[in-house]
Amino acid sequence: MQETANNLLADEVSIHTKNILGLKLPTDPRWVDLTTWHLEEILTDHAYCEQKAAMTCISLIQRYSDFPELVDELAPIVTEEWGHFRLVLAELKKRGLKLGLQRKDKYVNKLRAFQQKGGSREGRFIDELLTMALVEARSCERFKRLSEGLADIGMRKFYRLFMESEAGHYTTFITLAETFFDKQRVRNRWQEWLAHEIDIMETIDVRGDRIH
Ligand SMILES: [Fe+2]
Ligand SMILES: [Fe+2]
Repeated sequence: MQETANNLLADEVSIHTKNILGLKLPTDPRWVDLTTWHLEEILTDHAYCEQKAAMTCISLIQRYSDFPELVDELAPIVTEEWGHFRLVLAELKKRGLKLGLQRKDKYVNKLRAFQQKGGSREGRFIDELLTMALVEARSCERFKRLSEGLADIGMRKFYRLFMESEAGHYTTFITLAETFFDKQRVRNRWQEWLAHEIDIMETIDVRGDRIH
């Protein structure tokens, strides 16, 4: 009975995340297997992803403090992302592994290159919010793959927690964009971001030592 309930819950979460992500390209199925050969590197990379998420939220609060809902929504996410960073650090320590050096984040750098540079503040702000939504969505998708595909039950549970949390953050960033700006404008731009993300995914090597 318990197992049936768990299966139902898993199906619901699975359908939920599939629907909300909207990503056009699933992760290469080889990726999960590759990560098992690079545990220290993938955890290190994950730790820095969480740290950068916290830092970007702080930066958004600093630059867009004239949007009070943004401040209210992102202030607790800073704490949450920093908590994620600490959880990954604890996992490294538990396994006798070390936090390595930060590496270049090709995926995020390529996303940033697509952001509107000049023009209106509105347009730049929408792109900042959608960039975060996309990073959260792709991270969530990757954590989902790990939570379903790894052999180590402990690691599956570990990644499931992140999967659920990042799905919530994805929703927050999309909702903020649609609250502040015309919904249709945001949705049209989101479609452009999703299309662009396919190009990025296709040019980045599948590596087991990287979250993205
Ligand atoms: Fe996180
Ligand atoms: Fe997040």
